[in-house]
Parts: sequence; structure tokens; C-alpha cells
Amino acid sequence: MMSLRTHMRDFDENNITAAVIDRYKNTPDPRLKQIMTSLVQHLHDFVRDVEPTEAEWGKAIDFLTRTGKLCTDKRQEFILLSDTLGVSMLVDAINHRFSKDATESTVMGPFYVQNPPDAAFGADIRGGAQGDPLYIDGSILSEDGQPVADAIIDVWHSNAEGFYDVQLPEAEEPTLRARFHSDAQGRFRFWTIMPKFYPIPDDGTVGEMLKASARHPFRPAHVHFMIVADGHETLVTHVFVDGDQYLDSDAVFAVKNSLIRDFTREAPGVAPDGRKIDTHWRKLHTDFVLSKTAANRAATEQSRAREQAVS
Ligand SMILES: [Fe+2]
Repeated sequence: MMSLRTHMRDFDENNITAAVIDRYKNTPDPRLKQIMTSLVQHLHDFVRDVEPTEAEWGKAIDFLTRTGKLCTDKRQEFILLSDTLGVSMLVDAINHRFSKDATESTVMGPFYVQNPPDAAFGADIRGGAQGDPLYIDGSILSEDGQPVADAIIDVWHSNAEGFYDVQLPEAEEPTLRARFHSDAQGRFRFWTIMPKFYPIPDDGTVGEMLKASARHPFRPAHVHFMIVADGHETLVTHVFVDGDQYLDSDAVFAVKNSLIRDFTREAPGVAPDGRKIDTHWRKLHTDFVLSKTAANRAATEQSRAREQAVS
């Protein structure tokens, strides 16, 4: 019989994987054990598949080192890497198997800022930004069609040149981002400007990867929304501008047909909120349907059963 000691020597390209996995056998956290076991298996399979030269392996280490060094509180190169490799969308899809009636989710992206400034119902959030005025309104609904009052609605988007405020060295105040609350009927409305398609930051390691692969860095124009409401799953999504040239080649794979909307062109006149406007402007009407949490759905079913028993 071979001793354990013999087992733990003489590793070659075939038996090393089992030996490394064996080293995790005492991991107390079962989930961590599962993750490390799978990581080692897939990583080793990948290396056996591509058979990197030592120079290529060194290049990979250097790429990841530089990716980490680019990360600051204003820039997250690792999120970009995850986004451009389609991993962010994959994680999103796995974690948001919402009700089929609910609005679809998509990636958060790297430009969300925690706790954006509060804005009143109907506010104009353009600040000093120039661009075509855009009026957005709609309702927050639950999957059964009921309006959701007092939902937190965080909004953020690019300016007319395709930049977010956090990318502009001169921007001191948050612009083109705000937090709204839906009213008692679940409604929201605000003014801003039209967003534009934009390249993800491509002057770092992710840009190197895209260029080396003949991939472009562009994302189609969109407005980001994050909606948080009691009894409902948090919805992180975008609304995309119909007709954008990059809808079919988004650098981060985030476009879903159900999230594309017509941002209609409107003639000078009176907007739905009564504002007189003497230039052309754009209008977006869009509702968001939230998936109930499992606990909320169970409670609704229980109360429905109780009503039926009484009647
Ligand atoms: Fe974005």
C-alpha cells in the first residue's frame, strides 16, 4: 500500500490537481471548500488547455498586478475586467431569477456612487450639464400590478459627451445622479439631459485587452436605475435608448430587448408636468415592475387564502 507521504510527492501535470484539492479537505466553511475545490480544478484545466509559456504566465501576473494598482475609490479596473469578460452579467443572471412579470435586471457597472443626493419629485438633476432636455416619468409596480409607494429610486447616467461626473476632474458636485422616492401612487418623474453612448475607460489594462482582441470599448446610451422597496427584490437595471448603434455590441454584454425604450423627440411646447419648453426635448415613459421577496409572496398568498375562507 502506498503511504500518504509517497502520495504527496512527485507531482506531475496530471496528479497535481488532486493533491492541491486534497490540501483543502479540512476547510471548515463548506462553501469555501466547494469554491476552492472548483477554482483549483478549473484553473488547472485551463492551464493544461492553453499550456502557457513561462513568459506568458509572467505577462498574466503582470496584467493582474497592474489591474489592481489601477483601482482607486474613483476607478475599479477589476469590475471593468469582470464586465468585459461577461462575468458580471453571468453573476447577475444567476442571482436575479426574478418573476417573469418583473422588469429584467442588468449590470450595476462601475459608476454607481453610494447615497446619491436626494431630489424632490419632479426635480431637474442636470445641474450645469448641457444637452437635450429629457423628461422621464413612470411608476413603480409590484409583480401583481399594485403601485409601490415610497420606493427608493437611484438614477445615474452619462453626460452628452458620454462621461460620468466621477470621470470629470473638474466635477466637485454629483451631477446627473440623484435619489428619488415614488409617491403614494408609485409614480416618479424628473428632468435631466439625454445620455450618450460611451467608451468604458480604455486607457488601462482592460483597454489593452480590448485592443489586443480587436474589440471596441463602447456601451450604448442608457440611464441606470436602482430601485429599493420593502417586500421586494432590489432591482438594478438600465433603460437603453432605442436606435443606438451599439445595442448589438455592448462591451459589457448588458443589453436586453425588454429594457430598450423609445426616447421620443418632442416639439417645443408644454411638457406633461406643465413646464413650458421652447426647444426640442425628449421624453421617456417607463414603468418598473419589482419581484416580490419570497416572504412577501407567501404572506400575500396566506391573506388571499384567509379571504377566501371567510367569503
Ligand atoms: Fe453606464
